[in-house]
Amino acid sequence: MPNVQKSTAVEGLCIRVHEQISFSRTTRTMNLFLLLLLLLLLLPLLFISFSIFFKFIWIPLKIQRHFRQQGVGGPSYRPIFGNTAEIRRRMIAEAESSRSVSFNHDGVVQRVMPHYHNWSKTYGDTFLYWFGSTARLALSDPDMIKEILVSKSGSFGKIRFNPVSKALFGEGLVALEGEKWIVHRKITGHAFNMERVKEWVPEIVDSTRNMMSKWDSGRNDTELELDVHKEFHELSADIISRTAFGSNFTQGKRIFELQEQQVALVLKALRSVYIPGFKYLPTKNNRKMWKLDEETTELIREMIEKSNNERENRKTLLACLMSPYKKDDVLNLEEIVDECKTFYFAGKETTANLLTWTFLLLGLHQEWQDKAREEVVRVCGHVAFPNAQNLSDLKIINMILNETLRLYPPAVMMMRQASEKVKLQGGLDIPVGTQLFLAMTAVHHDARIWGEDANEFNPMRFTEPRDHLASFFPFGLGPRICVGQNLAMIEAKIVTAMIVREYSFVVSPTYVHAPMQSLTLQPQYGAQIIFSRRN
Ligand code: HEM
Repeated sequence: MPNVQKSTAVEGLCIRVHEQISFSRTTRTMNLFLLLLLLLLLLPLLFISFSIFFKFIWIPLKIQRHFRQQGVGGPSYRPIFGNTAEIRRRMIAEAESSRSVSFNHDGVVQRVMPHYHNWSKTYGDTFLYWFGSTARLALSDPDMIKEILVSKSGSFGKIRFNPVSKALFGEGLVALEGEKWIVHRKITGHAFNMERVKEWVPEIVDSTRNMMSKWDSGRNDTELELDVHKEFHELSADIISRTAFGSNFTQGKRIFELQEQQVALVLKALRSVYIPGFKYLPTKNNRKMWKLDEETTELIREMIEKSNNERENRKTLLACLMSPYKKDDVLNLEEIVDECKTFYFAGKETTANLLTWTFLLLGLHQEWQDKAREEVVRVCGHVAFPNAQNLSDLKIINMILNETLRLYPPAVMMMRQASEKVKLQGGLDIPVGTQLFLAMTAVHHDARIWGEDANEFNPMRFTEPRDHLASFFPFGLGPRICVGQNLAMIEAKIVTAMIVREYSFVVSPTYVHAPMQSLTLQPQYGAQIIFSRRN
């Protein structure tokens, strides 16, 4: 029996040992499984961390080193947000300061591009700064600018728009690239050629006459104080409305109201780093933007249909977009809507600001106002309005407009992005993806280019052709030069000529000189001018 008991005890022990062995095997398998699971979970995390490190630390520092080795300095890179906070801080500080600046043109660069103004003093004309984790090379050298915009333009594309700003320009010419841009450019270029624009002269004269009649009827006194910034925005809106749709400003008014609201939202979005996918989130701003966009598109669509039914609108910009000169180059409805959005904004905003600064400058410089008036009387007489034939004889007005575009360029600056690795003639090596900030306003105010009086208003400097193509480029340069340049200059010439002959004017004591960049260059507190009828 004791033997039997012994063997049972041994068996029990064996079973327990077996159990323990299989238990520890299961535990090991479990541990292995857990380890694998952990690894599987950690791998994406590791991958994400590595990507973040690569994108936000490794690459920017490598690019920074690349430029520093070439002698290009700049404010140091700060992970993720770059130097955005400082840019914003400087812009806000400028907007909030200098309420008492006297009306001269010395401080324009500092006011409209404070980050460029400050950093260029420390690091020189060409320097690198950071918009988020994107490298931005700021420059104001005319040779480099000419290379970027003209001779090597194929290596530099437009920067990708913050998707929010697409609501403003649509998928129109300003934002397009490649084949699509070529087709749109051909069609719009044809629509804006000089002969076609000259056909719009009577519309422009009519709009200006209406505005002056409104001024006269609102005048109780011999003098009338007006905020011309507001007046010229309405006038420009009326003109682009007539030339684009053959309708008048009243019909297009709602579109402009919507666009004003969109500008405010776009500006807000442009000043911050764009987070991919953010545009799909139903944030308060996005929802507002969607609603405004929907209404704008619908209104333009209605105007297109209306214009289709009106035979007398054959000369309009819209008619040109709808009946292209070559059979293959046809824009569909969506594309026409997008181009219309672009023209509405680009056509109104920029030209209105050119006119605003022109009148402020002529109000300040009475001698040039007199010269302009004498020229109009000489060319058009005391009663007749400018016409397509005598516009080119308004040479002094042309010089005044150019000098205004030099000192107060509506576009302020231009942006490009290297689509491939490029070496500029001076030897500067630019990696793919680098953005370029072409400091137009700084070039236009550079004493090395324009002489000691660079910050003075002196239209005489435009009597002679300029030495360097890229020393003055208010409309851009190269293949992407402003398509609406003819319309803008003809409009500005006619409006200036018509008003200057009928009124004498001075800048009001209530005017506060505070140029500000708000997509375009504008007077922050309006442009108050006192007009007196001459007869
Ligand atoms: C004083 C008035 C104007 C100024 C200073 C001005 C300035 C400019 C500048 C600097 C560019 C080049 C942007 C770049 O290459 O990145 C440009 C392009 C453009 N402008 Fe103007 N502009 C004016 C008036 C107009 C008008 C009246 C229209 C149309 C009604 C217009 C429509 C356009 C379009 C569609 C483009 C894009 C062209 C392209 O990319 O092919 N602009 N403008």
